[in-house]
Amino acid sequence: MSDNEHDVEHDAHSGTQTTGHTWDGIKELDTPLPRWWLWIFYATCAWAVVYWVLMPAWPALPGLAGETDHTRGLRDHSERANVAAAVADLQAQRASGFAALEGASIEQIENDPQLLGFVRAAGESAFGDNCATCHGAGAQGFVGYPNLNDDVWLWGGSYEEIRTTIRFGIRTDHPDTHFSQMPSFGRDELLSRSEIADVADYVLSLSGHEADAEAIAHGATIYQAQCASCHMADGSGDRLQGAPNLTDRDWLYGSERDQVIDIIHRGPYGVMPSWEGRLDAATIDALAAYVYLLGGGESDGAANGPTGR
Ligand code: HEC
Ligand code: HEC
Repeated sequence: MSDNEHDVEHDAHSGTQTTGHTWDGIKELDTPLPRWWLWIFYATCAWAVVYWVLMPAWPALPGLAGETDHTRGLRDHSERANVAAAVADLQAQRASGFAALEGASIEQIENDPQLLGFVRAAGESAFGDNCATCHGAGAQGFVGYPNLNDDVWLWGGSYEEIRTTIRFGIRTDHPDTHFSQMPSFGRDELLSRSEIADVADYVLSLSGHEADAEAIAHGATIYQAQCASCHMADGSGDRLQGAPNLTDRDWLYGSERDQVIDIIHRGPYGVMPSWEGRLDAATIDALAAYVYLLGGGESDGAANGPTGR
């Protein structure tokens, strides 16, 4: 409304010009916007125009803006293309690491700082993704799931042996799987309750646990007849059958008398999945080297040395 259509009036209290609108005797003041506010407003408008020109901004019908469904802007910026480029970059970096790993012996890996760094990084992330659920994030293991940091091995701790275990698994349906099965002495009534208790006392005595001498002597005869074929006459175990060493203080299923009795009663059946076909060969190499380097790895010669857990 222009001033000449009505009398210009100033509010008596504030001195501000009124718009001429009145409601119930209340007059509307025509207070101007603050300067600073206006300048910010103009600046944001100018910024928006510059942004529309430079960056992808407006939806557009396909065909009008090339291949996309939006205006592309002069800078032709695309987050999607940036991510694709970053992924391709990482894959290229990793490809050279994996290529260098192929066919490398564990000695070569250990003596090549670059390869070693690559194995630690790639192995750690693959371990976290695939193995930590069962073996623990630090590979420390749980009851029934072996600790992979120590130098106690069921099936062997050389780089090649570890890789074979990871590829084919333990008690899986892969044709090359490690396989063995301890009988369920109690459940299948191969031994009576008291025989199982005595042989448990004998087995525990091998690692220094105390028990009744008569029970141990009785257990020893049962052991030689029923258990020595797998755990060996001296209890040192057999890696060909994944039979643990029973003379050390390291127990996969627990060292309490009740736990040992339970294992002899039911017979353990630990299953480790096979990873061949689920992980590519390069990732399996990296995992085998990673597990080896956790601290318990054995040089190839040691595989013929002392056996078992
Ligand atoms: C579903 C659970 C499970 C997952 C997942 C798993 N493991 Fe195992 N792993 C086992 C069990 C159980 C055993 C022990 C089997 C036995 O009693 O002989 C084992 C044994 C092993 C052994 C042999 C240890 C020895 O003393 O000889 C290695 C090496 C191993 N796992 C590495 C791995 C790696 C590497 C991964 C990831 C790619 C992995 N495991 C994922 C359950 C699992
Ligand atoms: C056919 C071979 C075989 C025979 C026979 C056998 N075992 Fe085992 N035993 C194994 C295997 C293999 C394992 C490990 C299985 C697993 O990890 O799932 C094992 C595990 C054990 C364990 C658990 C060790 C640990 O570290 O927790 C005990 C205890 C044991 N056996 C005692 C016996 C006793 C006692 C007998 C005789 C009464 C016996 N075994 C007979 C193969 C055998």
